[in-house]
Amino acid sequence: MCAVATATSSLAETPSAPLGLAVIISGRGSNMLAIARACQAGAVNARVLRVIADRDSAAGIAVAQSLGLETAVIPARSFPDKPAFETALAREIDASGASLVVLAGFMRILSPEFTARYEGRMLNIHPSLLPAYKGLHTHERVLAAGDASHGVTVHFVTAELDGGPLLLQARIAVKPGDTAETLSARIQQREHIIYPQVIHWIASGRLRWQDGGPWLDGKALQQPVLLEEEAS
Ligand code: GRF
Repeated sequence: MCAVATATSSLAETPSAPLGLAVIISGRGSNMLAIARACQAGAVNARVLRVIADRDSAAGIAVAQSLGLETAVIPARSFPDKPAFETALAREIDASGASLVVLAGFMRILSPEFTARYEGRMLNIHPSLLPAYKGLHTHERVLAAGDASHGVTVHFVTAELDGGPLLLQARIAVKPGDTAETLSARIQQREHIIYPQVIHWIASGRLRWQDGGPWLDGKALQQPVLLEEEAS
């Protein structure tokens, strides 16, 4: 009896293995950096196994290398078509051993075949309060519409562009005199908080993909968790 009890308790105390991440970028990679730092600091029980860019010019690759992360560039332009590029991208992701694919400023529309392959294990971050303002130039569109607030969303990726189940959003107020640049800067600050947060939820088992949708803390997530701006 005693031996069994000891074995059980030591099992319960064994920390689970870090969640392996493949982070896919096209640009500067500030979200990738925030995620990698959160992992390295132990705030998120995950590890960036590989940072993959779709273009040589992605500045985030040098940033990842400076952190000692493994990197790869799969230049989309050098492939004859999208299926060939996506096959190479999937090969790179799978070779990394990652369990979760993190799109972080990846500027390409993925095919339904690709999104189905990573169903429930691929995240994206989009700079709007989805479902509002799917697509590009969200800050400019928010300003043109005269909206009082704006925000950013982390969601699971499905075949519909910026359309997968919403997980966590952060809202900010649009202030008089705001420009696309000032909005972008404040949105990015929030991005660097909420993206590691969602990965932490998954790494700690709080958030799962089950029965075709997200479940948080044992309940189907019907609408995203909303993080309001702290009063300043
Ligand atoms: C972010 O604003 C994100 O919302 C969008 O692309 C941008 C990437 O920024 N999908 P970075 O490369 O992580 O700095």
